[in-house]
Amino acid sequence: MNKVILVTGANSGIGLALCERLLSVDTEGLQLCLACRNMRRAEAARSALLTSHPKAQVALLQMDTSSISSVISAAQEVKKRYDRLDYLYLNAGIMPNPQFDANAFFKGLFSRNVITMFATGEGILTQQDGVTPDGLQEVFMTNLFGHFLLLRELESMLCRAGRTSQLVWTSSSNAHRSAFSLEDIQHKKGTQPYSSSKYASDLLSLALNTHYNKQGLYSSVICPGFVMTNLTYNILPSFPAFLWTLFTPIFWLIRMFTNTFTLTPYNGAEALFWLFKQKPESLDPYAKYHSLTSGLGNNYTQPRKMDIDLETSESLYEKLLQLEREVRKKLKDEQKESPP
Ligand SMILES: NC(=O)c1ccc[n+]([C@@H]2O[C@H](COP(=O)([O-])OP(=O)(O)OC[C@H]3O[C@@H](n4cnc5c(N)ncnc54)[C@H](OP(=O)(O)O)[C@@H]3O)[C@@H](O)[C@H]2O)c1
Repeated sequence: MNKVILVTGANSGIGLALCERLLSVDTEGLQLCLACRNMRRAEAARSALLTSHPKAQVALLQMDTSSISSVISAAQEVKKRYDRLDYLYLNAGIMPNPQFDANAFFKGLFSRNVITMFATGEGILTQQDGVTPDGLQEVFMTNLFGHFLLLRELESMLCRAGRTSQLVWTSSSNAHRSAFSLEDIQHKKGTQPYSSSKYASDLLSLALNTHYNKQGLYSSVICPGFVMTNLTYNILPSFPAFLWTLFTPIFWLIRMFTNTFTLTPYNGAEALFWLFKQKPESLDPYAKYHSLTSGLGNNYTQPRKMDIDLETSESLYEKLLQLEREVRKKLKDEQKESPP
């Protein structure tokens, strides 16, 4: 029986690179499902995958993780199409309207934290968040809560007796405890919604392991390192492409000092790919699995302890369940008011 793998945000960057790497090891034994918001780009991604792997099974699924109704109908479609789900890669993510704090950057350049600053973006990146038509914060919904709803909808497929399944969150080294608050899980009040959402995914992964391991479902988080993708190009949108190219040798030089500069989506997908090959029972729920690339260009995966604790992770989990109940109730009320 072919393994079914669903990847969100698979039409570009790290998600697409993961699909390419999975098909390179097993072209005919996997069923890939690319869950994407932008179907034009999804079609292009599917064509590219089929060009290099003509016998592969690659399906597309329309899903916008920032929309409650889209996530729910996508999950229904998954249940209709497949009778198993082995891997759920929760990879879609946004960092909208990033603001680069040049002052903090130049200060950081001459401080002891220079490597950390380059490696994690700590202190130099803020964002302007929006509100979705469902009334939720956009970054929280896209990066975290949409994925949470998806896995809740697919719970019956993921928790099957006698079988294990894996959830893998694409987190970030930009996930900082200082950006997250249990009193404001959507990060309505702060300026670092991205960091908050990624820290929340680290916490949630731990809680999911606590609640689902007995049912055969395991959750892990990874950090892809610093990768040149649409998301990173967007940090300096006015930067002409040739300047990024000029920076490339500098980035390669930085890699000599920090192996987190993975730079290409292929390298960035290393930890996602590595997790695919692991027995989920052997993984550490407190570790973030980092994609790393050595100065000589060799890829490897390294677990690093996360700055998380069980109590906060449980509290977040409870809050997400509460929000889920509210969202479902609202949806039901709306359907009563205007039946389909
Ligand atoms: N690049 C890095 O250095 C870096 C570092 C740490 C973590 N990450 C994480 O890596 C993940 C992948 O990002 P990337 O770097 O590969 O950037 P990317 O190329 O921009 O990929 C992001 C993907 O997410 C999708 N997406 C965004 N909003 C969505 C929504 N509402 N519904 C469904 N899909 C949505 C995008 O699809 P559309 O075509 O529809 O926009 C795209 O496929 C993200 O979670 C990001 O936070 C990246």
